[in-house]
Order: sequence, then structure tokens, then C-alpha cells
Amino acid sequence: MSEFNRQVTPLHQSAKEPLPSGGWIEFEDFPTTIDVLGSLLYFLFQDHWQEVGLGHMVDGSVLELEFPQPPKIIRLYDGYLTVVTEGWHMHLCIEENQGGPESTTPKELSRKRLVSRAALYRRFNPRGQVRSWGIQFWNGAGERMMNVFLPNPFVGENEDLLPENKPDLRKLGLYEQLREIYVQGSQLIPYETNPLKRPFVSVCRSGRCNPTRNWQPIYEALRSAVAESGLEVDVIHSGCLEVCKLGPVVFYSGDKTWYTCVTSELAQDIVYEHLCKGNKIKSHLYPPAKDL
Ligand code: FES
Repeated sequence: MSEFNRQVTPLHQSAKEPLPSGGWIEFEDFPTTIDVLGSLLYFLFQDHWQEVGLGHMVDGSVLELEFPQPPKIIRLYDGYLTVVTEGWHMHLCIEENQGGPESTTPKELSRKRLVSRAALYRRFNPRGQVRSWGIQFWNGAGERMMNVFLPNPFVGENEDLLPENKPDLRKLGLYEQLREIYVQGSQLIPYETNPLKRPFVSVCRSGRCNPTRNWQPIYEALRSAVAESGLEVDVIHSGCLEVCKLGPVVFYSGDKTWYTCVTSELAQDIVYEHLCKGNKIKSHLYPPAKDL
């Protein structure tokens, strides 16, 4: 794994596109490496969730979602960033999606799914006045993916439009900060490591692989073993981990390892033997170890 670099190398790439209703949109591109996208999206959704919205905007349709509370989950699994709130969740492919132990994602599909272009944008009206600020993502086929909507100085409480001559210009602070970090490279990324790359160990709570859904004891065993060993590893429970049989299924993101038929005792061994010492528990690996 390459070392996290807090300095973004500017692309010096911008574009201006006319809007069908008059006016235009101006894009300033920034790199789409996992360290850039991971730190940017974590910064927005974890640290600035109250200020941003997300959704999409194409001719004939606009979707805009807000965060009523801090997200419950922000997690990177197999290339997809998942953000879960009380009322909705989203997935965005920001790293190569490889597939689970049962199926490998074809290279071409993996390239198509991945965010391959990202840009800060400003939308101008026909009179040349900026009217909205945001971030646009495109996939590997050049199709528009989701938008992040950045604070708008013309919009007040309850989405009311402020008087034309009284914008709240303090709201542009977030856009300007992002531009300095990600477009100009004149400010450093505000993290020492990629916050989405912190390793985690997860137990699947779905009934498809574990009909009794008795995942809680395994989760608790993982938690207490990780706490006791002092490891910097998150312990979570999640939806499908792509094995879908022989549950309870446990996944360790550090070296992408799946375990099946996990018991509380095995959960502790996974932490003490595998996570602490690097010795995988071969008898429960998935796919099964060949030399057993
Ligand atoms: S449902 Fe548990 S791994 Fe798929």
C-alpha cells in the first residue's frame, strides 16, 4: 500500500459547459485516487454532514438528500463507500470493486463502476451570477454519478431564498477550503491517514447465511478481544459479506479474509491469532484453504 500523501497534486484541468436553460456550469477537476476521494468524502459526510446534501441532477430530475443526523455508518467495503443514515443510505464506488470470494468482478465492469472523474463546480445563471456550488462525480463510462451539494449563500433557513442583495457569504467557506485542498493543492488534507482505510472486522447479521441470526455473541467476542489486545481495528456488524452460506460469516478488511461457521471462541482466535500475530485460522477460511 502506498503511503498517504496529504498534499494533492493539482490537475490544472477545468471545463465550461453551457446549460440548456441559459447560463453555464464551470468544472474544476481534482484527482480521483482513493486517498483523495476517501479523505474528501469522509470530511464532508463525517465532519460537515449538517452543511452538505447529496443526490443527482440531470435534465428532468433532481434528487437532494440531507443528513438529519450524523451518519450511522461510513464504511469502505470492496471499493464501495457506504453511508447509512436513519432514513436512507447510498453507495459510491471509489476504489476498484473486486468482488467476493465467489465471483470476481470483470475488469471492464470494475472500471465502469469506479469514480473516474471528479470536479468542484459552480453553476452560473444567464447573467453570469453564480447560483450553486457543488461536486460532480463521473464513472468510468463518462456517465454522471451523484452530486454533493455544497452550502449555498443565497439559501437561508428552511430552504428560503434570501434577498438578492443579502447572501450569507460565510457559507462559501467550505467550497473555498475544498478548492484550496483538492483543486489547488495549497492546503493539506486534514488527516494523517486515509480515514476510510482504517481496518475493520465485521460479522454478517443477515439471515441468508445465518438463519438463526445469532451474530451478537460473535460481535461481542470480537469487540472484547480487540479491546483487550489494544488493536486499532474497528469491530462492526454489517449486511451481506458476499459468502451467503456457512454463517456466521466474519470478514477482516486488513487482508481481505473471510471466515465461515464462526463461533464466539473462534472469533477470539481470529483476533488473537490472525489480527495480532498474522496466523490465519485455516480450518475456517473461505474459500477453504487448499493445504488442509
Ligand atoms: S448474507 Fe451473510 S454473507 Fe451474504
